[in-house]
Amino acid sequence: MEEAAEYARTKEVDGFVAVGGGSAIDTGKAVNLLSCYPAPLLDYVNKPVGRGAPVPGPLKPLIAMPTTAGTGSETTAVAVTHVMAQHVKAGISSRLLRPTLGVVDPLNTLTVPPEVTAAAGADILTHALESYTTRPYNARPKHHPPDRPAYIGANPASDVWCEKAIEYVGRYLRRAVLNGSDLDARVHLALAANYAGIGFGNAGVHIPHAVAYPIAGLVRDYVPAGYRTRHPLIPHGVSVIITAPSAFRFTYPTAPERHLRAAELMGHQVAGLSDAERRQALPQALMALMRDVGIPSGLTAVGYGEPDVAALVEGTLKQPRLLSGAPRAVGVTELDWILRDAMQYW
Ligand SMILES: [Fe+2]
Repeated sequence: MEEAAEYARTKEVDGFVAVGGGSAIDTGKAVNLLSCYPAPLLDYVNKPVGRGAPVPGPLKPLIAMPTTAGTGSETTAVAVTHVMAQHVKAGISSRLLRPTLGVVDPLNTLTVPPEVTAAAGADILTHALESYTTRPYNARPKHHPPDRPAYIGANPASDVWCEKAIEYVGRYLRRAVLNGSDLDARVHLALAANYAGIGFGNAGVHIPHAVAYPIAGLVRDYVPAGYRTRHPLIPHGVSVIITAPSAFRFTYPTAPERHLRAAELMGHQVAGLSDAERRQALPQALMALMRDVGIPSGLTAVGYGEPDVAALVEGTLKQPRLLSGAPRAVGVTELDWILRDAMQYW
């Protein structure tokens, strides 16, 4: 990001066009910021990984053209980066980073390989599910408007976007993974990515995204199929959905009806379930989808084991901004439980 910004500073530019997946669009946001207001990247990265300095003022126009259906980055005010020195991913968040325009054309996603389609779709679903279950806006501290965080909690408007995104991923992700040229599926996943982006961009994500940062950051030797890389890499969508069944088991008591509704939107049969079955409905709907689209079966399948739990917990605690969105208090003990529960699902 810093190298690209340095290059941009040597040119006369009116604005930026970001073409690609979330990494490319987030790089566009960071280059826009660092070339308009030069400073080390870490100055702007959220605390405690960076200094959390505010974005000083308006940026140049940024046009975002997603080539995957996943991130929804064209709609959001966040740019995420992998801070190699600290083995952690972290974000810069400011409304001023939001692209001026998003050009969402599902035809750009027709040649996305099945593994990338699956991981990107997992990201959509996790954005929507986390935003749907995050601590609601009216259960959070009040702020003066200028100090209001980008993530304000689940609210009636974000719910609408998230519900539609959950439904579309449940209905179309298997189809797009099995048959990449299924245009109807690609159209609905492109919409779902955008809808979930609008939903999570104002409600906010919580535990699965917080845990995903060290899961991706501490990768040792997992090289995913379908990605043009020989380097170890846990795709973002895999890193977020891999703890989602456990995380939603943990959050279920905070809003049983929402967890059940989400499972129903994914196509899971919920009528006539016993109390114990209702509690498992969303984790089961998630595991069924993960299995069908080829997502790894848990943390052990991407190279982690019980001895890694402490480091993963420590890395997660570096995401207080995301953890504060969890609908119930979450600390070392709870994260330890969630991670151990996510080792192997099937
Ligand atoms: Fe994400």
